[in-house]
Amino acid sequence: MTQTRILFVCLGNICRSPTAEGVLRGLVASEGADIEIDSAGTGDWHIGKPPYGPAIDAATTRGIDLSDLRARQTSPDDFHRFDLIVAMDRQNIADLEKLRPEGNTTPVRLMTDFAPGAGWDVPDPYYTRDFEGALDLIETAARGLLDSLR
Ligand code: 4NP
Repeated sequence: MTQTRILFVCLGNICRSPTAEGVLRGLVASEGADIEIDSAGTGDWHIGKPPYGPAIDAATTRGIDLSDLRARQTSPDDFHRFDLIVAMDRQNIADLEKLRPEGNTTPVRLMTDFAPGAGWDVPDPYYTRDFEGALDLIETAARGLLDSLR
């Protein structure tokens, strides 16, 4: 597998996309795939901040450390820097498409594309408070994403 650069995107970059980044980093570390991973949010409220405490805590119970991650906002340059952008929900995709540089063809997919039967959007645990459920779905989709690259 040649190196693939993947960007996970959600709204705040403090719950779902950093969780996806941490989960896929863990899979890649244990399985040795050549993948560069980052995450970003379409919103600007949390730039520079670590992931949300309950998201860090939920990931920690599964052996995933999110504490070093820091939020940043998506930019048009992300379409040049990454081979694949994976969004947590359909609103993220709509917001991302407003940033796409003219002529750029980088694929933007939904996280649930890699978790058949999971519906459309990864429910936002910042609002649902279901951090375990979000992790379950993100772990399934990250596994499916990695398998799809092989
Ligand atoms: P995320 O969740 O998009 O999964 O990081 C959110 C976290 C914070 C906010 C929105 C979504 N917020 O509006 O502050």
